[in-house]
Amino acid sequence: MKNEMKLEFLSISENESLARVAVASFISQMNPTMEELTDIKTVVSEAVTNAIIHGYEDKNEEKITLTCKMENEQIEIIIEDKGIGIDNIEVAREPLYTSKPEWERSGMGFTIMENFMDKVDITSKPGEGTMIRMMKQLTSTRALCN
Ligand SMILES: Nc1ncnc2c1ncn2[C@@H]1O[C@H](COP(=O)(O)OP(=O)(O)OP(=O)(O)O)[C@@H](O)[C@H]1O
Ligand SMILES: [Mg+2]
Repeated sequence: MKNEMKLEFLSISENESLARVAVASFISQMNPTMEELTDIKTVVSEAVTNAIIHGYEDKNEEKITLTCKMENEQIEIIIEDKGIGIDNIEVAREPLYTSKPEWERSGMGFTIMENFMDKVDITSKPGEGTMIRMMKQLTSTRALCN
């Protein structure tokens, strides 16, 4: 099965659950396991939260784009913001690194994304924004039942 969807929403925290539910509903066509579904909802939350609080530094009226593609058992999720961007991507990916310790962030968002997904690409330019592209192959036996 091949399918694709794109969603654009404002950078307000209420939209984290919108993004999670939209992706969960989209991928449920592929018969994911409960664990796959929970993992994917979690990584979408992490990436959207990052766009809101880091990319746009909690300014509420900026746009976030979520693109979701599926082909056979492969899922691709892209989350983009046009916010402040990331200076040093390698440092940002490190477990426990956070630029906002005063906000009680734990610096585990990217580590969670990497653990739950097969591949996480980060493209970012200071002053221009950030794009997170995540891929995951669902377990083929269940996906083939579709
Ligand atoms: N969309 C983004 N725009 C700008 N900077 C970002 C973005 N996403 C992540 N970062 C930077 O990368 C760092 C690491 O992100 P990560 O999600 O791993 O940790 P965190 O958000 O700081 O903490 P946690 O996710 O555990 O609450 C952030 O502290 C921030 O500096
Ligand atoms: Mg985070």
